[in-house]
Amino acid sequence: MNRYYITFLFSAAALCAAAEEIKSPDGKITVNVDVKDGVPEYSMTFDGKTVIKPSSLGLELVNDKDLMSGFEIAGIKTTSFDETWQPVWGETKDIRNNYNQLVVELRQPSTERLMNLCFRVYDDGMGFRYEFPQQPNLTYFVVKDEHSQFAMDGDHTAWWIAGDYDTQEYDYTESRLSEIRKLMDGAIDGNASQTQFSPTGVQTSLQMKTDNGLYINLHEAALVDYSCMHLNLDDKNMVFESWLTPDAIGNKAYMQAPTHTPWRTVMVSDDARDMLSSNLILNLNEPCAYEDTSWIKPVKYVGVWWEMIGGGKEWSYTYDLPSVKLDSLDYSKTKPHGRHPANNENVKKYIDFAAEHGFDQVLVEGWNIGWEDWFGKSKDYVFDFQTPYPDFDIKMLNDYAHSKGVRLMMHHETSGSVRNYERHMEKAYDLMNKYGYNAVKSGYVGNMIPRGEHHYGQWLNNHYLYAVTEAAKHKIMVNAHEAVRPTGLCRTYPNLIGNESARGTEYESFSGNKPSHTTVLPFTRLQGGPMDYTPGIFEMDMKKVNPNSKGHVNSTLARQLALYVTMYSPLQMAADVPEVYNRFLDAFQFIKDVAVDWDDSRYLEAEPGRYIVVARKAKGKDDWFVGCTANEDGHTSTLSLDFLDKGRKYEAVIYADAPDANYKDNPQAYVISKKKVTSKDKLKMKAAPGGGYAISLKPL
Ligand code: NOJ
Ligand code: CA
Repeated sequence: MNRYYITFLFSAAALCAAAEEIKSPDGKITVNVDVKDGVPEYSMTFDGKTVIKPSSLGLELVNDKDLMSGFEIAGIKTTSFDETWQPVWGETKDIRNNYNQLVVELRQPSTERLMNLCFRVYDDGMGFRYEFPQQPNLTYFVVKDEHSQFAMDGDHTAWWIAGDYDTQEYDYTESRLSEIRKLMDGAIDGNASQTQFSPTGVQTSLQMKTDNGLYINLHEAALVDYSCMHLNLDDKNMVFESWLTPDAIGNKAYMQAPTHTPWRTVMVSDDARDMLSSNLILNLNEPCAYEDTSWIKPVKYVGVWWEMIGGGKEWSYTYDLPSVKLDSLDYSKTKPHGRHPANNENVKKYIDFAAEHGFDQVLVEGWNIGWEDWFGKSKDYVFDFQTPYPDFDIKMLNDYAHSKGVRLMMHHETSGSVRNYERHMEKAYDLMNKYGYNAVKSGYVGNMIPRGEHHYGQWLNNHYLYAVTEAAKHKIMVNAHEAVRPTGLCRTYPNLIGNESARGTEYESFSGNKPSHTTVLPFTRLQGGPMDYTPGIFEMDMKKVNPNSKGHVNSTLARQLALYVTMYSPLQMAADVPEVYNRFLDAFQFIKDVAVDWDDSRYLEAEPGRYIVVARKAKGKDDWFVGCTANEDGHTSTLSLDFLDKGRKYEAVIYADAPDANYKDNPQAYVISKKKVTSKDKLKMKAAPGGGYAISLKPL
C-alpha cells in the first residue's frame, strides 16, 4: 500500500475574500467554492469546459432556521490523499484512491451553528457532502429538504428514468433535458409509481452528454442513515436540485450531530469509457468494515426462478390458507395446486444440473410458507423465513446439494413487511447456518407496511444495511432486490454481493426491455455497485415458454452471453431453465467458462445507449473474456487484442451473432468459431441489431 496524506491549514482571515479553488491531481478538473451574500455555492470545470455552473448548497430544517444562508467562512483545510487498495471482489485487483480535498468550514453567526462542506476532487470527478460537527446549537435536527443544486451548462442529452420513491424498475429514456417534462408520462410504465413526483424529477445515477463532448454523471456515494436523492430539474434554467425521498409523514431525514450527508457525486470525462472504468463511487466509501472476508466468495448460480417469472408457475404451494396459526400449520388439510416448482424432485434436477456444469449454487424461490397470504393480512399467517412447504425437504435437499459440491441459495421475500422480516431475521439466518446456506436473495416487493414508508427513505435504507451487517455476523452474503439503488457500500460491506434496484431480465418476460437497455445500465445503475441482472435467457420467444406471456426477450442469444462480461457482477445467474440450456450446450459453454471475479478490466469501446465492449482478465488466471452489447442498430468493431500478454499464443473461442441474426425475428442465430491469436491480432466483429458477441481467450 503506498500512501501519503498531507494537511495544510490556512487561517480564515487570509482567505475570506476569494473563492476557494481546488484541482484534481492531474489538474484537469477545477472546483471553486465560495460564499456569496451568505449563501454557499460551488462550480466545476473539466479541461476549461463548464461542468457545473455556480450552484448553491444548503438544507432546510423542520421547525428550525435553515442552513442555506447567513453563512461566513470560518476556516479552510486542504489535504491530499493517495492510496491503492484491494477490493475483496471487483473489476480490477487494485484500485487507486487519489484525491485533493477541500473542507470549507462555515459558521452561521445569527445562530452560532457550524456546517462544513467537504469536497474531494479526483481525476474522474468529484464528490461533496455536508458535515455537521458536534456543537451546542445543532445537536439533533430534522431535514425538511436538501437544496443541493447542479446547474447544467446547456440542454444536455440524458439517459433517465422517472423519479419515484418506490420503484427503479423503469425503462430508460434518452432525450434532451428540455424534453423530460413532455416525455415523463410515457416513461412510467405498468409498474406505475405509488408516489407523487415532479414532472421533471429523475433518479440517479443520471448519465448525460453535452454538445461539446463531455460525459457527466450525477449520483451519490455512501448512502447511510439518510434518504436517497432524486434530482428535480428546473427546465427553464437547466438546474437540477436534490430531492430527497420523504418518510411516511413527509420528513426527509432525522439527524444527530456529529454526522454528515452522503456524498453527492459528479463524474466527468470527454471519453465515455472513463465513465465505466471510474472507481469514484467506491473510493468515496469507507474501507472494508470486516476483518475476516475469507467467507465472501463470488457466486455463479442457477435457480428455480424463470419457471415462475417467465413460465407461469407459482411460488405458493396451494390456493388455500391453512386455517390454523403459524406454529401449528397443517398442510395435510390443504389442496396443492400442483404448479409449485420448489419441490424436492425439481430442486434435485437443478442440483444435478448445477453439479454437472460447475455452478456454485441453486436458488430456490417459493420454498417457504407465506406466499398464499402475501401481506400477512390474516395476522397469524406471514412469512417466517423458516418454515418450508411440505414438498420441500430442507435437510435432504441441502445434504444432497452438498454431496455434489453445490449449495442451495436462500430466498427471503419480505413482501414489504419489513418489521416482520426484522423480527424473524436472527432465526432465519440461524436456519441458513444450520443447513449450510451462505447466500440469500432478499426482496422488497410491494408497498411497505405498516406505516407506508418508502423504499428509498432513511428508515428503509437503514434496514437494508442492517440486514447486510447482521448477515455478516452469520457469514452470509446478501443480494437484495427492490432495495435502494447502490451507492458503493459494497466496498465497506463486501458481503453485499448484489442488488437488483433497476429493471432486470425479469421484465423481458413481462413486456420486454429496450434493446439499448444493457448499453445504458453500466453508465447508470452499475455506477453504485453490481446488479443481479439474471442474464442467460436463450429462449426469447416467451409465448413458447408461456402462451399467456406478453413478453419478448429483446436480445440475441450471443448478446445474452456477452452480458456476463458487460454487466459486471460477482454474482451471476444463468437464468434460463436446464431444458433450454440442454438445447444449446455449445453456447452454454461460455457461461460455464466465464469468470465472475477479475484482475483487470479494459473498456475498449463505449457510448451510452449505443454499445459497450469490455475485456476482462479472470482473477488469478491468464484467461481473458470479451463482451459486446449493442442497441437496435448493432455495432461493428475492429477489436485490437493488444491487452493480451505480448509474445503469447491464445485460443480464442468467438460466440458471434450469425450474419442474419437480429433480436426480433432471429435471435437464436449464432456462430461459434475458434482461432489462434496473439496480442498483435485485430478481430473484425459485428453485433447484430440488439445483439452482441462474447469471446473467451485462453493461453495455449
Ligand atoms: C421480484 C424479484 O425481482 C424477483 O427476482 C423475485 O423472483 C420476485 N420478486 C419474488 O420475490
Ligand atoms: Ca424486481
